[in-house]
Amino acid sequence: MYNEKVMEVFRNPQHMGEVENYNAIGTVGNETCGDIMQITMRINEDDIIEDAKFKTFGCAAAVATSSTATGMIIGKSVDEALKLTNKEVVTELEGLPPQKIHCSVLAEDAIRVAIDDYRKRKNG
Ligand code: FES
Repeated sequence: MYNEKVMEVFRNPQHMGEVENYNAIGTVGNETCGDIMQITMRINEDDIIEDAKFKTFGCAAAVATSSTATGMIIGKSVDEALKLTNKEVVTELEGLPPQKIHCSVLAEDAIRVAIDDYRKRKNG
C-alpha cells in the first residue's frame, strides 16, 4: 500500500520522542481514526525552531508524515513553520494512498497547536 520512501521513513523515523526543556507543545487527535499526535519544540528568542520531536499512536502514514514534517520545520521560524501544509509533506514522501491522507493532517495540526502554545507562553 505504501511507497518505498514512506516505508523507509517509517522504519527509521527521525525526531521521535520529546524535546528536553521544550517551550511549545501541541497534542491533537485525528477525527477520522481517533489516533493521537504530540509535538514538542524548543523555540529560541528569535522565534526559530531549534529542535522538534513527535510522539504518535498513529499508523505508519502518521509516523512517516510526522517524522518528515518535524524535520522540515527544524531551523525555520515559527511563521515559516505555520505555512507548512500536509500536501507539501505528502509530496516530500512521494505520495500516500488516498485513504491515508487524513493521517498526514495530524502533524500539520499538531505544529499549529504547539506554535499557538508557544505564543501564549511568550505573551504571558
Ligand atoms: Fe490514524 Fe493513520 S489511521 S493516523
